[in-house]
Amino acid sequence: MSLLSTEWTALLYLAAAACFILALKGLGNPRTARRGNLIGATGAAIAVLTVFLSTDLDNVPLIVGVILVGALIATPVSRRVQMTAMPQLVALFNGVGGGAAAIVGLLELAHVETQFAAGAIAFTVFVGAVSFSGSGITFAKLQGILPGRPLIFPGQAWAMGLVLIAAVALAVVVVIDQWMLGAALLLVLGLVAGVLLVNPVGGADVPIVISLLNAFTGLAVAASGLVLGNVLLLVAGTLVGASGTILTRAMASAMGRNVSGIIFGALKGGSTAGSTAVSDRPVRSSSAEDVAILLAYAQRVIVVPGYGLAVAQAQHTMAELASTLEGKGIEVVYGIHPVAGRMPGHMNVLLAEANVPYEQLKEMDEVNPQFKTADVVLVVGANDVVNPAAKTSPGSPIYGMPILDVAAARQVVFLKRSMRPGFAGIENELLYEPQTTLLFGDAKASLTKVLSAVKNL
Ligand code: TAP
Repeated sequence: MSLLSTEWTALLYLAAAACFILALKGLGNPRTARRGNLIGATGAAIAVLTVFLSTDLDNVPLIVGVILVGALIATPVSRRVQMTAMPQLVALFNGVGGGAAAIVGLLELAHVETQFAAGAIAFTVFVGAVSFSGSGITFAKLQGILPGRPLIFPGQAWAMGLVLIAAVALAVVVVIDQWMLGAALLLVLGLVAGVLLVNPVGGADVPIVISLLNAFTGLAVAASGLVLGNVLLLVAGTLVGASGTILTRAMASAMGRNVSGIIFGALKGGSTAGSTAVSDRPVRSSSAEDVAILLAYAQRVIVVPGYGLAVAQAQHTMAELASTLEGKGIEVVYGIHPVAGRMPGHMNVLLAEANVPYEQLKEMDEVNPQFKTADVVLVVGANDVVNPAAKTSPGSPIYGMPILDVAAARQVVFLKRSMRPGFAGIENELLYEPQTTLLFGDAKASLTKVLSAVKNL
């Protein structure tokens, strides 16, 4: 027996939907992101409780048991995950969402009465399955289980074309006949399509595909909301679909790429990953003491953080060095590239964790004109986002990506461990320029040495 009236159910769903919208708003800014996340989780809790209280559910102990198993797996994984592994965790969770939508759709086929609902089911099953297997492949690529480069086999584009044609034909039969086996075959085709879609994507494009698959999951969930007559699923799915689409476009444009180029470029044979060759040309390197002197005599320092700062977990030492320099009257700001690190807002989150005042973080458009007046630019574990090849080398995987104009500064100090390239796998000419010097080593160890040398000056 349901414990909630229809009116109360609708009101609670409305409250949950409002939570989801407020959560998205909160997540739009590092200051409010934590609160946004909590509001979203509260919305999800309200939604789940409302389902339990408003529906005559069978097998309640089984459902609760499955929820508990899911929570027992996901909680420790989420607590322990490194910030740098966040994209693959998001891929995993997203894939599970798509897979769940596909299974719900499949099981609901037996209960639908209209061809419209059967059509929505065909869509949910196929797109949810694409999202499930595609996310699994992106997870494996980012986790290093599969090679990160594009995996292409001859006739891949043809195989994809055939799968899509077969899927459309099956979907038509499912709509007309509500054929259960056809829907199950559609699910299998979706799984194959997901693999074929993501396999040829490589290099820096993989995380963009996560966000695209996130949008797919949203659409699959929205369609399942139509089938189940559940307004909240429709709203939540549409929000995920829309935000995933916006994020995909934003990330692609920040990298100077377009979404169809990412998906179909590799299928046409163009690799999106660069070579990882390391040249043995000479570079200028410095000791931590030299860098400390350089910084101590500067008036204006710009720090460019990147993926290596996150790997080294050097944000607290970086923040301490910046405030020590400020104590000596030196102006320090951070130049934040929109795709520095491995996920949107990665550097903002990292530096917020170290209590760096938000006013010190300057976005690319604001900081770029300031490089020419900077005495020293400290590039901490960043590479691609300052690589001039993005402007000068057509054919390079990052060509067209807007970069931080570090080359305009008087002195550039790179903190990195070796001459290995960054994510895109290409050499950075800036490392060989006369104004550049390198401080080799793990970013945290190097910054600690520089900090103590600055304090001793
Ligand atoms: P990268 O170009 O990947 O360069 C990172 C640098 O950090 C490398 O040169 C590496 O050199 C150094 N490094 C790694 N571990 C280190 C450590 N412990 N200590 C010191 N240095 C360390 O990073 P980026 O400049 O931040 O650019 C981001 C790249 O990721 C771009 O290509 C972007 O397109 C891509 N990407 C970004 C996103 C988002 S949304 N942020 C999503 C997907 C892809 P060594 O190995 O020599 O130390």
